[in-house]
Amino acid sequence: MRKHLGIGLIGCGHISEIYLTNTPRFDVLRMVACADVVPEAAKAKAEKHGIEAMSVEALLADERIDIVLNLTTPQHHVPVGMAALNAGKHVYAEKPLALDVAEALALVDIAAAKGLRVGSAPDTFLGGAHQTARAAIDDGRIGHVLSGTAYMMVPGHERWHHNPDFYYQAGGGPLLDMGPYYLTALVNMLGPVGRITGMSSTGFVTRTIASGPRAGEEFPVEVPTHVTGILQFVSGALVTLTTSFDVKAHGHTPIELYGSEATMEVADPNQFQGDIRIKANRDHDWTVLDQVHNYGDGNYRVLGLADMAQAILDDRPHRASLDMALHVLDVMESILRSAETGERITAKTTCARPDAMDANLAPGQL
Ligand SMILES: NC(=O)c1ccc[n+]([C@@H]2O[C@H](COP(=O)([O-])OP(=O)(O)OC[C@H]3O[C@@H](n4cnc5c(N)ncnc54)[C@H](O)[C@@H]3O)[C@@H](O)[C@H]2O)c1
Repeated sequence: MRKHLGIGLIGCGHISEIYLTNTPRFDVLRMVACADVVPEAAKAKAEKHGIEAMSVEALLADERIDIVLNLTTPQHHVPVGMAALNAGKHVYAEKPLALDVAEALALVDIAAAKGLRVGSAPDTFLGGAHQTARAAIDDGRIGHVLSGTAYMMVPGHERWHHNPDFYYQAGGGPLLDMGPYYLTALVNMLGPVGRITGMSSTGFVTRTIASGPRAGEEFPVEVPTHVTGILQFVSGALVTLTTSFDVKAHGHTPIELYGSEATMEVADPNQFQGDIRIKANRDHDWTVLDQVHNYGDGNYRVLGLADMAQAILDDRPHRASLDMALHVLDVMESILRSAETGERITAKTTCARPDAMDANLAPGQL
């Protein structure tokens, strides 16, 4: 029986480094090759990490590769994913799944027709922090979740990214960029969203790149950069989500859930680690919960891909699933559409909560 699957990485940019660094930590993954439209980018990563650099076409045709890891920018997630599925490969992609639900449905159809898997980042919800929060809810530690807040508010990625244009074009913006972390964490804890309203604004019409070869270059903003949604989960919980590239500083925690018995502070869903704290009422102190498994002490980006590879070998569902990524995309699209039209929208999609991770996993095992 096979013990590992071959991985081919497409898109050797900023985020590829952590994937290439982490892949050898998981027995189930074998990184075979990488490719990029810029061949030098692939060559540099291949040399550093001891793998082969190839053209995209050669990578898709390589029989040693079972799963294509798609780390291209959002506009390329579906075209590259379709090419990989058509070549008979499973696909795991960075978030967001697609620019919109209509585009994502093409992936759904072809994956189903070919019996291939599609997985999608984020995988931070598989980390120790978010699994601890999930277990606390499942164990009834805060009672029935009535409501909550989620805040992702920053000044903008042009402060550190050398080519930040895509964050301000279709497929970008604070909600499509960072919303997947927050919404996936919320769906992991609370299940699917039922009804959605949103409002949005654009604080600045241009942005200026702060660092790198293009420092000082100004570029236009084409999408809303402050987006607020009110989400009614099917469970009944009412959660306010605000994502923004227009906020210089703030004092909110990333996620708070207000249960019938207690309040829970949930760590940053863009991280695998962090404290989960519970407080029963104003007279009590906060209690920091013990973490329930091992992947809560650092950056384990690639965990979702490793879980998908193991799931393929074990013939079980993978956790960072197409259904959940599609639902998260549907919720984000609905917030943005509601903001444009003023209507309240019922989600078109739904998904099951992914299975909780096993407690006491050994490092590198799933
Ligand atoms: N930068 C981060 O910290 C970060 C964190 C989490 C997730 N992500 C996500 O990862 C994805 C990539 O982000 P990034 O910051 O690495 O971007 P990037 O621009 O640094 O890298 C993207 C790479 O993909 C290549 N590429 C684009 N289209 C291609 C195609 N059709 N075929 C082959 N190669 C192609 C580009 O040449 C580039 O090297 C995005 O979806 C982003 O949302 C980024």
